Amino acid sequence: MKPNLYRCIFQVHRWTGLTIGMVILMMALTGVVNLFRPQLEPVVNRDLLTVPTCSERVPLDVLGETARAAHTGGRLDYIKLSAGEPGAARMPAARVRFDDPQFDVYMNPCTGAVIDERARYGGVLGTIEQTHILRFSEEKWVRSITGVCAIIFGIVLIGGGFYMWWPRRGGYGRALKLDARLEGRARSMNRHRIAGVYGSLVLIALILSGLPLVFEWYRNGLYTLTGSSLPQKPPKSAPADRDSPRVSMEAFWQKVQALEPNPAHALLKYPGEGPNAPLEAYMVARGASHENARSLLFLDAYNGKVLRYTPYEKASPGFKLYFWMISFHTGSVGGWPMKLILLFGTLMVPVLAYTGIRSNLRRRKSPAAAAAAVPLMPVGVKRIAFEAADIKSFELVSATGALLPAFTPGSHINVSIEDGLQRQYSLCNDPNERHRYLIAVKRVADSHGGSRAMHELVEEGDLLSISAPRNHFALHPAAGHHVLVAGGIGITPLLCMARHLLSIGASFELHYFTRSIEQTAFHAALSAPEFVPHVSFHCAIERGRLRETLHPLLSRRATDAHLYLCGPCGFMDLVEEMAAAAWPAGTVHVEHFAANPLALAGERKPFEVTLARSGGTFTVPVSKSIVNVLAERGVCVTTSCEQGVCGTCLTGVLEGKPDHRDAFLSPQERSAGAKMLVCVSRASTPHLVLDL
Ligand code: FES
Repeated sequence: MKPNLYRCIFQVHRWTGLTIGMVILMMALTGVVNLFRPQLEPVVNRDLLTVPTCSERVPLDVLGETARAAHTGGRLDYIKLSAGEPGAARMPAARVRFDDPQFDVYMNPCTGAVIDERARYGGVLGTIEQTHILRFSEEKWVRSITGVCAIIFGIVLIGGGFYMWWPRRGGYGRALKLDARLEGRARSMNRHRIAGVYGSLVLIALILSGLPLVFEWYRNGLYTLTGSSLPQKPPKSAPADRDSPRVSMEAFWQKVQALEPNPAHALLKYPGEGPNAPLEAYMVARGASHENARSLLFLDAYNGKVLRYTPYEKASPGFKLYFWMISFHTGSVGGWPMKLILLFGTLMVPVLAYTGIRSNLRRRKSPAAAAAAVPLMPVGVKRIAFEAADIKSFELVSATGALLPAFTPGSHINVSIEDGLQRQYSLCNDPNERHRYLIAVKRVADSHGGSRAMHELVEEGDLLSISAPRNHFALHPAAGHHVLVAGGIGITPLLCMARHLLSIGASFELHYFTRSIEQTAFHAALSAPEFVPHVSFHCAIERGRLRETLHPLLSRRATDAHLYLCGPCGFMDLVEEMAAAAWPAGTVHVEHFAANPLALAGERKPFEVTLARSGGTFTVPVSKSIVNVLAERGVCVTTSCEQGVCGTCLTGVLEGKPDHRDAFLSPQERSAGAKMLVCVSRASTPHLVLDL
């Protein structure tokens, strides 16, 4: 997997989880209550929902009229009757629903007395149901929010999570188990993954079964998928004249009973608006496979003739699937075992939220990375100048007009070029200047994006984000003389040093090696009279004569002299090698601006890396860096150059011996083995323990 793709999915997954995931968390928590509502409701609202069992009921028309007298406003919508359990002391109350706004009047079907009335989503459990479906408005888009969030949850969080979890090199057993040895963030991530893997199957089923309740297109899709025709429009009643009397609700109920004797539930709708509106009812038989196994009945509202009757068994597959999904979603399919499975899956959502947020808060960076993550500040590009072939300088000024942070000779800044792309550039102006920073960028053919973007995308007047200056290449304070040796674009930090040394009157010499005058950046500036006694240009030196040219500079060392090198790797290696005899350790200071290709190309072996603070042991194969492997496991190490040049990913080594492949650490730091650049360096021992 490409690390960038992984990182992209990881970031989308994380931010979706922290936003949409919170809506899903609300839906899951309320969904758990809804799941057990049929069991909770008779306990919480016993006296509202049940009455002492009786054998005789009052006629439905009396119930309806009494409810209408008790409830002001609204339109009678339906009466719902439910049968009690045989032999039970109490039976369900009748519910008379008013529409616009929806209101339920609960009635004793035996006495016709009103028990109480309540808004459609009234009471604690009603409010929880309302919250679960966000039914705070009848606006279609508001009602769609839960469905949209569920779809995003399914695609981004479950799909993306699976993509990141998938063990591409086998090891499914480990990927499916809780690892008790892990600590810290690795532990949270392990729990997050396991909860996701096991919970997602149930959650996907809940999403798929919940969508028909929200989206009509989805509902219609179920009919199409099963080869069923879409539900027909209700048939029409045929009134003899406009004032014909309608069939009473009690007569309606008798018709229902004749077709479906003693149903477990029956809902009888009052005729709707208009003279042709039929009487409509649905019934669920006792012992039906689920509580929405509905038979549908339409009667002529005037003569009581059956216009259409569809027993559940004869309903279309699409109809059956739709109502089965509703029952599945509400936990009324499969009895207690299925209820417990749904409970498990739903409870995985708070576990995912907790472990996800916790691992996010526990994102730890190495000390160097933390230091590297300095805040960025906006600067304007005041001027861009061509300094030499393929080299442009960029003058940056504060976007707010304030003075820029002070810097010392040899400092560099991080420049944020495009989304996620940062590069380090040395400052080459005089450190006394606080009103501007000057950097120079050479466009390289094999650019990883940085120099190309700087040359092609950045224009005068643009805003860039930069870090405050940092310095890994400082002038030695005790040096009595400074020898600056630059190769090509390596002039940039040395130019800054030269300007500073000139301004303080220090002793220094600058040797600047380039392939030609055309490729010599800042030639005019360095040819200024004040620089002439200090600067030597070495242009177009033949390869065979380079040693000869360098020899007088490096074969002897004045007391208190320090040597500063910056340039291409081959050039730097040669200078360091030639200086080794006369310049003791600590007197040679180097700054690389590109990776060392020889070091990067060295033999690669797989090894294991253990994270001491976050926990977890991972194998680093030959094809990947430590940073890549950690990113795949959700452990984020801040990087910038990813070439072992900038030092951003500097990480402490607690055990094992690093195989340094960077161009950043000094020879002393390398042999100490206490730190390494995890973007490129590997291990000489089979196992490393990192301070991460
Ligand atoms: Fe620059 Fe590792 S990211 S050295």
